[in-house]
Amino acid sequence: MDKKLVLDISQAKCFCDEKLYNEVSKEVLKAHDLLRSKKGPGNDFLGWLDLPINYDSREFSLIKQAAAKIKQQSQVLLAIGIGGSYLGARSAIEMLKKYFGQKGVEVIFVGNHISSTYVADLLDYLKDKDFSINVISKSGTTTEPAIAFRIFKDYMEERYGKAEAKNRIYATTDKARGALKTLADAEGYQEFVVPDDIGGRYSVLTAVGLLPIAAAGVDIDEMMQGAKDAYFAYMEKDIDKNDALKYALIRNVLYRSGKKIEMLVNFEPKLNYFAEWWKQLYGESEGKDHKGIWITSAAFTTDLHSLGQMIQQGERTLFETVIAVEKPIKDQIINKTEDNLDGLNFLAGKSMDYVNKMAMNGTMLAHVDGGVPNIRVTVPNISAYTYGYMAYFFEIACGVSAYTLGVNPFDQPGVESYKKNMFALLGKPGYEAMTEELLKKLNK
Ligand code: PA5
Repeated sequence: MDKKLVLDISQAKCFCDEKLYNEVSKEVLKAHDLLRSKKGPGNDFLGWLDLPINYDSREFSLIKQAAAKIKQQSQVLLAIGIGGSYLGARSAIEMLKKYFGQKGVEVIFVGNHISSTYVADLLDYLKDKDFSINVISKSGTTTEPAIAFRIFKDYMEERYGKAEAKNRIYATTDKARGALKTLADAEGYQEFVVPDDIGGRYSVLTAVGLLPIAAAGVDIDEMMQGAKDAYFAYMEKDIDKNDALKYALIRNVLYRSGKKIEMLVNFEPKLNYFAEWWKQLYGESEGKDHKGIWITSAAFTTDLHSLGQMIQQGERTLFETVIAVEKPIKDQIINKTEDNLDGLNFLAGKSMDYVNKMAMNGTMLAHVDGGVPNIRVTVPNISAYTYGYMAYFFEIACGVSAYTLGVNPFDQPGVESYKKNMFALLGKPGYEAMTEELLKKLNK
């Protein structure tokens, strides 16, 4: 495969009305112009757009140096963060590390939920291991990572003493504001910056994602090269030559044709967390003003044995976007047996990846027959380069898609609602007025 990413919409376009497709095409071109002209809503959060060609090379070198230091000093890196300060790194590491027996630093994510059992088990697991911490929070005030950091900082200081703990803690946060910034300055931690103009869900190619990814042993130069090549590929203004625009277009046409749910599907479990990253990217960017494609994900063939029935014959509001990987990292030939008791000799000599591909094609044909439009995104392999390329493809497409939908892709006002309630119920100073009202509702 010559191209770095191939988009095939033929099995989705056949569900669309041509007139609508042409109308929405015009809107997509306008949305693309709006994004590139930097005049649309949320335009103060467009730092990610040119990031692949103008990232801070000094900071990039410092990230690599810090990663090398972490590799030297620790067996485990705790990456503490949530949402956009977590999903990028996790999606890349899960995609690029070995399933089993990965050598080097083990990156463990914490602070992305409030499970006390998880934290207790992790404290226990760390007892006989050297560890470092990368605490990541743009605002520096997010509750989940702040609680985790308080606990693991204490534990680290107890284990290593305050001076050595300082040498093992790396803080990624705002360059000027927030509680984490204040704390990192006071303690003298090495600091990395979350650029002002890049929101969490678009931050994987900044220090937010890159430090844990590099510490895990991934080649971040290769990753940035992938993003850079995608940057040039998706500058193109012609929809027929720009797959990111075409993806934004087909999603919006399907949405307006009653296909309200998009399921991101893979046939390679290494991509499961890529789907989690993608869900945040599209969900937080588009789900507002009571609009937006509902996003979900599935891992096939596993989920064909649980969700398959619903997909094939349930309510017809779904479309699928399949990420297909052309070449697996490793393949496995199926052997022949003399007795053929399991009846599988018809597959003898075939590779598992061949079977997986036939499963993918068979599934696509069945689902399309059942009324589920199918978009296919094919990438050549699983590599750091492909991660960077694919991440940038989905980011550009998301910005254009959200503008086409008519929403601001770069804010997330709805995320605050649960936080306010939680703070009021926990008695945080300043939330007193809400507390009584919420308690009444709870006790009804
Ligand atoms: O995309 C976003 O803005 C959110 O998901 C944030 O990344 C998430 O809430 C974590 O915020 P912070 O980095 O400020 O701790």
